[in-house]
Amino acid sequence: MKIFLDTANVDEIREAVSWGVLYGITTNPSLVSKEGRDFKSLLLEICSLVKGPISAEVVGTTKEEMLREAHILAAIHEQIVVKIPLIVEGLKAVKVLSSEGIRTNVTLCFSPTQALLAAKAGASYISPFVGRLDDISHEGMETIRVIKTIYSQYGFTTEILAASLRHPLHVVEAAKIGADIGTMPFKVLEQLIKHPLTDLGLERFLKDWRVFKKEGIAQQTVTSATLPHSHV
Ligand code: G3P
Repeated sequence: MKIFLDTANVDEIREAVSWGVLYGITTNPSLVSKEGRDFKSLLLEICSLVKGPISAEVVGTTKEEMLREAHILAAIHEQIVVKIPLIVEGLKAVKVLSSEGIRTNVTLCFSPTQALLAAKAGASYISPFVGRLDDISHEGMETIRVIKTIYSQYGFTTEILAASLRHPLHVVEAAKIGADIGTMPFKVLEQLIKHPLTDLGLERFLKDWRVFKKEGIAQQTVTSATLPHSHV
């Protein structure tokens, strides 16, 4: 499963890139508005930081408005994937964009039937929102599971992008099901690496090593004369 960050914050993106695990970025109008920056220059900066797909969302609600915005967004950078909401007008726009070779991420997906239609219209990515379904007492991960079954059954190439992942267990479950991508806030990415036993274990190793060094034995042990290949 490829890891995406669900953010428009360049500091978070820069930090995640330095970890060497980040594949792409998803944004939405709420995340972009939080940054208070010019949309185009923000997207260009994100594209310069991450060499994968960067989703940018349209805000029009008719096919014509979406197509107009999609063409502008796609022209900004080749990495841009146009995010389109899962409404009838959105499907019409996706059909046209797919015939033009413009990649789309169909968003605000909450059911397998919506995902089926998005795939048929030619979506490159489908974004089912796991956390928001959980919020209304509907098991969000089940939707990912059913979409995976349907797409596999018919060989759809639309990639499943598990979105609205709120905690590490969501990430684990999405990966177990075989979602192609998991997109998450930076704080969830941070939670993925944290384990108290790792911190405790490292602390203990370092403490033991400090004692060892104090006794003067470590110094002798790591001199080149005692390395196995040093006399070759
Ligand atoms: O970008 C869409 C999605 O990931 C939003 O997540 O936590 O606002 O439901 P959330």
